[in-house]
Amino acid sequence: MTPADRERFPPTGVTLKDGRPATLRLLRTDDGERLGDFYAGLDENAARFYWPHPLDHEHARTNASRADSPTEVVLVLETATAALGGYAWYRWQEPAASSTFGICIAVDHQSCGAGRVLMERLLAIAREVGPPCMALTCQHANVRAVELYQKLGFRITREGWLGGRRQWPPEPQYWMERTVR
Ligand SMILES: CC(C)(COP(=O)(O)OP(=O)(O)OC[C@H]1O[C@@H](n2cnc3c(N)ncnc32)[C@H](O)[C@@H]1OP(=O)(O)O)[C@@H](O)C(=O)NCCC(=O)NCCS
Repeated sequence: MTPADRERFPPTGVTLKDGRPATLRLLRTDDGERLGDFYAGLDENAARFYWPHPLDHEHARTNASRADSPTEVVLVLETATAALGGYAWYRWQEPAASSTFGICIAVDHQSCGAGRVLMERLLAIAREVGPPCMALTCQHANVRAVELYQKLGFRITREGWLGGRRQWPPEPQYWMERTVR
């Protein structure tokens, strides 16, 4: 997100369902190491469902270096110890009718509302920045994610197969999308 747009969406305090305080804020170019530590803490289950690229420090540094990109919005959940407890993003290529969405929550922050608050805030930003539609893919087996997306207004547009990756065999997936404004 451009530095000018960034000023329109300042950090927001949230309280997770288990009482932990956190802050939702936009990714910064100096977040590379923090993002890498977050990737390093993910388990195999998270990696099965979230694998846009190898989850290592090198890719984290590259991602953080694009924090001011005009065609990418990355929102992080920062914990009270300044670690990253999760993040959600959307990006597009101009001209675009639709963006692509992704989300991943740290293992010790799952199922306590982090995914929902990140998505709600990201969707509020998407009402003002980026294309009018947001799209994603999600394996059938990721029941928690499918539930979250449907609750937040995404609808299934088609079904198909995700090819086998690393130790996981091919598995069915949904394509989903949502109008954001
Ligand atoms: C899938 C994921 C994003 C969900 O985020 P989360 O923070 O764990 O989920 P939340 O606590 O915000 O819960 C959101 C919804 O998910 C469902 N949910 C959450 N925990 C659940 C559980 N343990 N069992 C079943 N459903 C659950 C509920 O429907 C919940 O709705 P509610 O807000 O009305 O209670 C997160 O678990 C994650 O990052 N998982 C690993 C990576 C991944 O799967 N990424 C998505 C790839 S498509």
